[in-house]
Amino acid sequence: LRASFAPKAQKTNQNLHQHHFQPQASYKVAVLGAAGGIGQPLSLLIKMSPLVSVLHLYDVANVKGVAADLSHCNTPSQVMDFTGASELANALKGIDVVVIPAGVPRKPGMTRDDLFNINAGIVRDLVSAVADNCPDAFIHIISNPVNSTVPIAAEVLKQKGVYDPKKLFGVTTLDVVRANTFVAQKKNLKLIDVDVPVVGGHAGITILPLLSKTKPTVSFTDEEIEQLTVRIQNAGTEVVEAKAGAGSATLSMAYAAARFVESSLRALDGDGDVYECTFVQSEVTELPFFASRVKLGRKGVEAFITSDLQGLSEYEQKAVEALKPELKASIEKGIDFASKQA
Ligand code: NAD
Ligand code: LMR
Repeated sequence: LRASFAPKAQKTNQNLHQHHFQPQASYKVAVLGAAGGIGQPLSLLIKMSPLVSVLHLYDVANVKGVAADLSHCNTPSQVMDFTGASELANALKGIDVVVIPAGVPRKPGMTRDDLFNINAGIVRDLVSAVADNCPDAFIHIISNPVNSTVPIAAEVLKQKGVYDPKKLFGVTTLDVVRANTFVAQKKNLKLIDVDVPVVGGHAGITILPLLSKTKPTVSFTDEEIEQLTVRIQNAGTEVVEAKAGAGSATLSMAYAAARFVESSLRALDGDGDVYECTFVQSEVTELPFFASRVKLGRKGVEAFITSDLQGLSEYEQKAVEALKPELKASIEKGIDFASKQA
């Protein structure tokens, strides 16, 4: 089991095995919200990474058992548990990558923005502790609404004087994972080959798959484009409804977040070929934050792959313009929240 897992974006199996047999890296990862629906399977997947030496699990409750359980896996990383605000600082000291899936999930009938009132404060407080204890870490924000929680995190880091926009990421990998799956299914392609960039944000119409940029080159009818786009945009709601009150995507999210962690660790380790879509501070459009494909390096975002946004289809151009007002409002809502607290 240990050998077989390494979620990856664009690497060959040969490279994957090299990592397994010659693990040279030893990074420290913390999961905040580790006892939750995402936190538990995500922690398991991170525990399986040969690039991780230390795994800190933090939650407000129930994390001791999760850590005891995981610590019995015979993979290299050492697992430690931290419970409650008094142990948060120690959970974060020396950490290279902090992943934040803490907060409440949706129930049927809710939008991601309906989670703002609870999750905004959770993200603010956790990121404030990150600023105090591991300001150089890569920060992966999963907690919804991502379109607002990332701007909140940025403001908190600015207030603490430690904001590095290259190291703060909204995790939108699940949108890419879904787009790849649905396109491969629809077009009968091998899953491993399919790569669809997804840009914009992470809610409703702000999630924009750029189907015209699918690799390998595929042609879609207008009807297929409409169906696939809407399915990708509503995929979170599809899971929320299927779970019927028991929460939102956790397993596919853990898979996607583990891929983003693995990509970050490879980038930190000097791999020069790491690309992911993520919601970050950006000049790709006039909005201050925007999800797009970036190249990851040791210092975080190394370059924006702006070519993805050039030569779009008419459908995509219109969709980019149509999503901007909602995305702008969600970003501003986050910034306002964080500025009022300062
Ligand atoms: P969950 O309720 O199962 O787990 C959340 C965990 O967070 C719980 O263990 C809870 O104790 C913990 N928590 C609450 N307050 C905390 C605090 N102050 N500090 C540390 N931990 C705290 O929820 P879930 O299904 O794991 O979802 C978590 C979040 O992830 C939700 O906001 C959900 O909307 C979001 N999500 C995002 C994506 C994405 O693509 N970015 C996908 C799925 C879910
Ligand atoms: C998702 O896309 O699955 C998450 O954002 C959770 C949700 O509320 O849909």
